Formats: sequence, structure tokens, C-alpha cells
Amino acid sequence: MRHLLTWAIAALLSPAAGAAPDLHDYWDGRCRECHGDSAAFARSTLRVEGGRLLGRHHTEDLATFLRQHYLTDDLLVPVMQMLQAQATTSPLFKEKCAGCHGTAADFARESLVMRDGVLVGRASGRAVRDYLQRHGKLAPSQIAPMVATLERVLGEVGGR
Ligand code: HEC
Ligand code: HEC
Repeated sequence: MRHLLTWAIAALLSPAAGAAPDLHDYWDGRCRECHGDSAAFARSTLRVEGGRLLGRHHTEDLATFLRQHYLTDDLLVPVMQMLQAQATTSPLFKEKCAGCHGTAADFARESLVMRDGVLVGRASGRAVRDYLQRHGKLAPSQIAPMVATLERVLGEVGGR
């Protein structure tokens, strides 16, 4: 009886029970050995035309190709969305932040959280958009896009 209860609670708490998947973790486990870093791969190999993600070889049928290419069916759409976002954003985090914070996915997992719809740093408890006014050496016009990128990545690691 006790085992059953423990099992039931574990099942409820397990990530599979409704929580969003960690797409970066998934990529690192299933795609990275051949393609390397997901964002660098997306930027070098993929492009977006008319809102659609196109491969270098598979232009018209990328989704069909991916369905038969290591990718679990239920992650096809989220992974394509992630690659599309990466292919269309500049590598600002990599250039200006990764040297101290590691990958954006690791940084999001460890240090960021959404609170009342606002992206907040866990340690400082401050809104990231305020924090970046005096941290990270971004131009004022780069702060909002950086916050948007970090919010997206937090979603991609299942954190929102
Ligand atoms: C064992 C190596 C290997 C693994 C693992 C792998 N791929 Fe690939 N992938 C390739 C090769 C080789 C190609 C080029 C083949 C082609 O374009 O027909 C490719 C091509 C691609 C392309 C681009 C197609 C194009 O038209 O340019 C995408 C996108 C892609 N893979 C995504 C993924 C994703 C997502 C995963 C993980 C779920 C993954 N791959 C896992 C080897 C791999
Ligand atoms: C030279 C190293 C360095 C660089 C470059 C850097 N950071 Fe930081 N960052 C830190 C350190 C260290 C902290 C911990 C707090 C402190 O001591 O300021 C921090 C804290 C933060 C926090 C608050 C985290 C929390 O838990 O509250 C955010 C958000 C942040 N950095 C974002 C960025 C972004 C975005 C960039 C790039 C535009 C960046 N940082 C560039 C070193 C750096």
C-alpha cells in the first residue's frame, strides 16, 4: 500500500505528468552528437521564408523529413518552432553573456523564473529587463529582444 502511494505521488510529480518537455535537454540527448549546438546548427543550416522553416536540402518537406529522422512525433512541432526561432535571432546571448553564464538553456534552468508574467532572476528577485539596464553591457535597444529570447528559452526548457 505504501509503495503504491509512493509510486502514485512519484507519477504525479514526474515531468511526464503534464509539464512541458525540456527541448534543449532532448536535443542534447538525441541530436547534438551529429549536429552540435542547436542554435548554431539552426543559424548555419536552416532558414525561414514566408514564415516557414526550410532546410538546406529539404526545403518543401522538412517536416516530413524530420518525422522520419530521430524526432519523436509529439516533439516535431515544438522542436521545429525552437529551430525556427533560433534561425531568426542573432546570437546575442552567446556573444555577450555565455562567457560568464554558460548556455542560455543552462542559465534559464538555473537562474530564471516567470513571476506574474514577468521574467525574474531567481537570486536577485529582480525583473530581468530592469537588471539588464546596468548589467551585461547591452545597448538599450537590445534589452527587450534579450528578455524575449530568455523568456522563449525558459519555455523551451519547460520552465514556464
Ligand atoms: C546519427 C546522426 C544524426 C542524428 C542523431 C540526427 N541527425 Fe539530423 N541530420 C543528419 C544528417 C547526416 C543530415 C543531412 C541529411 C540530409 O540533409 O538529407 C541531417 C539533417 C538534419 C536537418 C536538416 C535537413 C536539411 O534539409 O538541411 C535537420 C533540421 C535535422 N537533421 C534535425 C535533427 C534533429 C531535430 C535531430 C534529433 C531529434 C537530429 N537531426 C538527429 C544526421 C543526424
Ligand atoms: C563578466 C561576467 C558576466 C557577463 C558578461 C554577464 N553576466 Fe550576468 N551575471 C554575472 C554574475 C557574476 C551575476 C551574479 C550577480 C552579480 O554578482 O552581479 C550575474 C547575474 C545576472 C542576472 C541575475 C540572475 C539572478 O539570479 O537574479 C541576470 C538576469 C543576468 N546576469 C543576465 C545577463 C545577461 C542577459 C548577460 C548578457 C547580456 C549577462 N548577464 C552578462 C556575470 C556576468
